[in-house]
Amino acid sequence: MKVKKIAVLTSGGDSPGMNTALRSVVRTCAFNNIDCVGVSRGYQGLINDDIKSLKTRSVRGIINRGGTMLYSARSDEFRTVKGRNKAYENVKKHNIDGIVVIGGDGSFTGGLIFQKEFNVPVVGIPGTIDNDLYGTTHTLGYDTALNTVMDAIDKIRDTAISHDRLFFVEVMGRDAGHIALNSGIAIGAQEILVPEHDIGIERLIQSLKDSKKNGKTSSIVVVAEGDKTGKNVFDLAKKVEQEFPKYEIRVSVLGHMQRGGSPSCFDRVLGTKMGVTAVESLLNGESGYMIGVDNGKIVKTSLKKAIKGETKIDPELIRISRIMNI
Ligand code: F6P
Repeated sequence: MKVKKIAVLTSGGDSPGMNTALRSVVRTCAFNNIDCVGVSRGYQGLINDDIKSLKTRSVRGIINRGGTMLYSARSDEFRTVKGRNKAYENVKKHNIDGIVVIGGDGSFTGGLIFQKEFNVPVVGIPGTIDNDLYGTTHTLGYDTALNTVMDAIDKIRDTAISHDRLFFVEVMGRDAGHIALNSGIAIGAQEILVPEHDIGIERLIQSLKDSKKNGKTSSIVVVAEGDKTGKNVFDLAKKVEQEFPKYEIRVSVLGHMQRGGSPSCFDRVLGTKMGVTAVESLLNGESGYMIGVDNGKIVKTSLKKAIKGETKIDPELIRISRIMNI
């Protein structure tokens, strides 16, 4: 079957670089003389027939913008057979030959089911700050989020030092500790708490005691939101406070600011490469893949593996953080 029209959508939590990838998909379609349509608000737009033609100039001025020009959503209706049937009716109505889904594991799960049920070719671009997909060393937006977190904690460090305080900073990542581990190394955290490597509260307390003994007057502990050392970061800070009645402790939850902002150079280049490969894959009759990157090279992994495969944190970074917090 000759591919004549490709649809693109952004779904799930937005991430910096989604617009860059979208621009790349649209322009690669134009370069290959095929039509491109944009679906608003993820799969919900496919159900609601919120679909518009996108031309080269439709995506001007967005390469540097955070968020997603197409808006994003997590569609409950698309989880139902009825919802997906409605979506398929619109795919037929618009003569869509393939879909590029920019999103995370939930979005890929939806895409995979849709491809299986209706034989509509789907290719995924991993757009999430969490870096939690198998088959890519970097998801789109992860690098920008790391830099955002680093800048934010650098600022927190200024005030921590001025007041001799201990700060617990919670960062995003859902069930994964990539953001915490890498940003933690980058800001010189005393400890980094991630769900993949439980150090236990006793060691955390010991580490803080040792650092005090060694003359440290302020400290930052970076806590991944998925970490279970405490019930949550506030509970953890309370427990630690009991051991250090004289240490002023503060908690800072960075929250959604981590998902916004202009994409980094790395994410702009990555999003552009991924967009080109996604369209070229569909044109070559390849589908059911996620476009990833490994050592700067674009690689493809089946969507199934990308969702199900286990992503591991780098044990070397754990080792390094132990050396650094001496
Ligand atoms: O997947 C991206 C992410 O920002 C996670 O890091 C976080 O756990 C979640 O989305 C937050 O989701 P919401 O925007 O729905 O609160």
